[in-house]
Amino acid sequence: MSGGPDGLYSDVMFAPSLPVLLDCDPGIDDAFALAYLACRSDVETVGVVTTAGNVGQDDVLRNALGLTELLGMDAPVARGADEPLVEPMMTAEETHGPHGLGHAELGECRRRPDERSGAQLWVDLARKYPGQLVGIVTGPLTNLALALRVEPELPTLLKRLHVMGGAINHRGNTGPTSEWNIAVDPEAGHETFQAWGKASKRVVLGALQATEGIRLEERHRQAVADLGDHPIVAVLADALRFYFEFHQADGLGWCAYLHDPLVVAHAVTGRFATTRPLAVDVELAGTLTRGQTVGDELGRWGKEPNVDLLCDVDAEGFIEHLISTLGKGLKNLR
Ligand code: BDR
Ligand code: CA
Repeated sequence: MSGGPDGLYSDVMFAPSLPVLLDCDPGIDDAFALAYLACRSDVETVGVVTTAGNVGQDDVLRNALGLTELLGMDAPVARGADEPLVEPMMTAEETHGPHGLGHAELGECRRRPDERSGAQLWVDLARKYPGQLVGIVTGPLTNLALALRVEPELPTLLKRLHVMGGAINHRGNTGPTSEWNIAVDPEAGHETFQAWGKASKRVVLGALQATEGIRLEERHRQAVADLGDHPIVAVLADALRFYFEFHQADGLGWCAYLHDPLVVAHAVTGRFATTRPLAVDVELAGTLTRGQTVGDELGRWGKEPNVDLLCDVDAEGFIEHLISTLGKGLKNLR
């Protein structure tokens, strides 16, 4: 299944290497997203930025450094903001484990963070690859919002922005109506959607109703554990086992929703979902609904769409693709 407006991704298939910046909060599903990027020979991950989210900044940074080292990725890894713009920090150790990677142990890491802040790395890479860089955010949008304050032209400098976040006409997974990445930093979400709208650009948004389609079952968990003898396999398998335990404890059954990799795979292939345009903003003032992503389905705001919303997810096709990409790619990693 292909997706997106005509021509949106058509060049991706033929480009020798697509420059990608991943801003993430690893995070179990973020770890799979990083591994997926490392396994794609047609993608060059030119930067990784960490956002405090699933766990605190020290942990997400350590995890990103350790994962990129294990995966043989030499992209600079920049430390992002320690706190959201306004909201007090919250973390999700019950979901992702005490240090963000479930039962996995990364061991000693030799890689060191880039000297620049996460926001500065966004700006520098967007300027270095004008019109070419694909930005992907699989955590809260704090660093991107800070980067926008330095370089308001980011929406036009980037080739595309893909975000995992929000829940459109769907219950939340954090508050009753809010999704985790947006709930952690609602102001950053609001500033991002506003900036893209102002520039007449659209954020490609993978919200919960799309990403919860990626429900890994026991056979998928086994397939991950059997991926081979690369050291990342034990990390992913031990992390995933924790994620299954969390989902079971949360009443969802023996399964795991792997949100972030769908958004990343769609960003670099244009496959596994279609998109539809929608005007979206974040509720900042609601006493019950702060952090809700609101989609203006009826055009009541009179605004042009600022989002391309992922829909019609080919879940089984994507899960097969993810596991086979990891299986083939890990054989070629240093
Ligand atoms: C999002 O929140 C985090 O827990 C996951 O890593 C994902 O990015 C899902 O709501
Ligand atoms: Ca994440």
